[in-house]
Amino acid sequence: MMSLKLSPITEGFGAYASGINLSSNLSKENIEAIEAGMDKYSVLVWRDCLLEDDQQIKLAENFGKIEVSLLSKVRGKGGPANKSLVPISNVADNGEMLDYNGRRLGSQIANQFWHSDSSFSRSVAKYSILSARKVPKNGGDTEFADLRAAYDELSDELKIIANGLIAEHHVFHSRISLGLKYTPDEIAAAPPSYWPLIRNHPTTKRKVVFPPVHIRSVKGMSDPEARLLVSELLEHATQKCFCFSHEWRRGDLLIWDNRVTLHRGKRYNLKEPRILRRITTMEG
Ligand code: OGA
Ligand code: MN
Repeated sequence: MMSLKLSPITEGFGAYASGINLSSNLSKENIEAIEAGMDKYSVLVWRDCLLEDDQQIKLAENFGKIEVSLLSKVRGKGGPANKSLVPISNVADNGEMLDYNGRRLGSQIANQFWHSDSSFSRSVAKYSILSARKVPKNGGDTEFADLRAAYDELSDELKIIANGLIAEHHVFHSRISLGLKYTPDEIAAAPPSYWPLIRNHPTTKRKVVFPPVHIRSVKGMSDPEARLLVSELLEHATQKCFCFSHEWRRGDLLIWDNRVTLHRGKRYNLKEPRILRRITTMEG
């Protein structure tokens, strides 16, 4: 009988996980144990767990409905066979490096901003499962921030200011700030989403502060005041005391809860192939 073993990376945030074979059918007990581990640590790191695309999809299906990625919507038919897997990579499906000046590589670079996956989407992103197929020699770590601890340590003043405020998230906001160009039609075709700056996790009920980079405005505030408030909250939430960095090896698999964490990729040499695959599930 296999059972989940967890070894904390920091106190209460991030844990190395082992003891369950993620490429097999998971029992109800194992699924519940992983969810309980996620509720406790928010990010689970599995080593030596290289999955095939289909295995990764099957694993994700244990934890909610699979989110249809924006990329697959934009590219439509004819993309990769498994559209629910999001390439996190500077390499195209045909094995060629992405065009250095193109929007696709630009969007990949936008992952180096602190964000929560698909916060611009109207469904709530629950878990992301990211699997490393090929990693560069140096750099390209992924860093995580604990939004629960960040809320707990927020000043009373900021708690009062941010409480009840609703932020508008837009998919292209961060990319436009990087200089990527989108037509007004493209921007208008992607509807924004709205989430409170302070919200609760549905099962643990822990409060989090939620200031990802996709926020474009805050209801009832001017853009300058809103953006400064969001960047103040983000600066607070991403202090080193709330963060840890994961240094990738091929075969690593990470699961994180997008509702209580932010993450960002770290710089790496864009000429070196970095190939990861992500799948994201939805709450409810
Ligand atoms: C992601 C992501 C960052 C990275 O997979 O959603 O943002 O390190 N990854 O590539
Ligand atoms: Mn991401």
